[in-house]
Amino acid sequence: MAKSKATPGLEPRLKAAERLALVLKGASFTPLGASDVADPRDRALANRLITTALRHHGHLTLVLGHLLDRGMPKKSGSFEAVLRLSLAQLLYLPDLGDHSALVLAGEAVKRDKSAQHLAKLLNALLRRAQTEAADLRQGPPDLLFPPALVKTWTAAYGADAIPSFGAALLDGAPLDLTLKADYPTLIDLLGARPLLADTVRVESRDKPVDQLPGYAEGRFWVQDVAAAIPARLMTLPAGARVLDVGAAPGGKTAQLIKAGYAVTALDREPSRMSRLTGNLLRLSYVADLVTADALDYTPATLFDGVLLDAPCSSTGTFRRHPEVVWHRNPADIAGRVALQRKLITRAIACLKPGGILVYCVCSLEPEEGEAQAVWAPQQGLELFPITAAELDGWAAPVTKEGFVRTHPAMPVPGEKAGTLDGFFVARFRRG
Ligand SMILES: C[S@@+](CC[C@H](N)C(=O)[O-])C[C@H]1O[C@@H](n2cnc3c(N)ncnc32)[C@H](O)[C@@H]1O
Repeated sequence: MAKSKATPGLEPRLKAAERLALVLKGASFTPLGASDVADPRDRALANRLITTALRHHGHLTLVLGHLLDRGMPKKSGSFEAVLRLSLAQLLYLPDLGDHSALVLAGEAVKRDKSAQHLAKLLNALLRRAQTEAADLRQGPPDLLFPPALVKTWTAAYGADAIPSFGAALLDGAPLDLTLKADYPTLIDLLGARPLLADTVRVESRDKPVDQLPGYAEGRFWVQDVAAAIPARLMTLPAGARVLDVGAAPGGKTAQLIKAGYAVTALDREPSRMSRLTGNLLRLSYVADLVTADALDYTPATLFDGVLLDAPCSSTGTFRRHPEVVWHRNPADIAGRVALQRKLITRAIACLKPGGILVYCVCSLEPEEGEAQAVWAPQQGLELFPITAAELDGWAAPVTKEGFVRTHPAMPVPGEKAGTLDGFFVARFRRG
């Protein structure tokens, strides 16, 4: 799409449409940064439009079906993305007013050669949506997630959990930080409250993380309260050698270093390893860094512990990545399950006899979590059950088998439901 600086408010919408179009084609959503949209207010607006369109994706698909009698026009460039963003604004962001949703959407498609012939249609659709907005807004709540996921989640977590999952999707995620050390004054400066162990929750989400007090000095890193659980379950003496598999961008690596281990951080994605390197540098933490496919990695000396944060469907992170639930399908999840098993087998081969394996996934799918933990003992591992005492007495996520299972309908002590990611953790010893 061609750039335009002439019309105020157009640039963030063009950028938002570009980013959303990529996500609609299957890319992961990453918020626009300063290099995409320089003005912080424009950037916040663009990201708000995209996340609103993604959180209401299922409902907007229904609305599009209602408005477009002949379906989505083929080969129409940015048309669908622009339309979804404007519908999101008209239906769910009343504080922005309707005018810009109509006028700037028209300007945006006019600048796209593949979509400009649809400018009139776009205008007609948005005007109709504006007139019917009160009815269109009443979308059935069960459209927040694909029906197949609602079915598996209902079986796993109960029908009562689904409305809480929906509320969590619409609310988004609070900002949780893991502290490098005890900083009582910093907690006050951040406007944060202690949550669990060294995790604190920041009340206001209106400042970019890199502008928070203590960021530049490396006093914390961003990590959901659930994501911070697995590394705490590596119960080895300080100085033990630990391999962190699937380490980038390094939240769990930082925790393992903080716990006093000699850490080797391994990930196969060079760009993600650069982020890990930058994060460790900011924290003044040191690890051995290996950019490699774990399936091809053979260490010179076996490790005392392996943390395997396995690649997974990531459905537990839908509050920050609403797109994941629409991108996944059963075949894709089956492929991930097979890869996880190969990685578990490889992780065992990197462990000393008696060494500890912590396996985790940020997935709500039992095949990637509970079922893998039932399979793993057949590969020469003994289950090393996790206890509530290791989670400061928080018993809710500890299962009868000694696994940890969190999901967004589970309240963190002192907090409402919907404020943590879905995670699964199991711990083993190599026999
Ligand atoms: C859930 S993310 C890791 C998050 C990270 N542990 C943290 O706490 O910040 C999974 C990681 O596994 C990596 N990965 C996927 N397949 C891999 C493989 N075969 N070998 C090594 N790393 C892999 C991905 O690049 C991704 O960075």
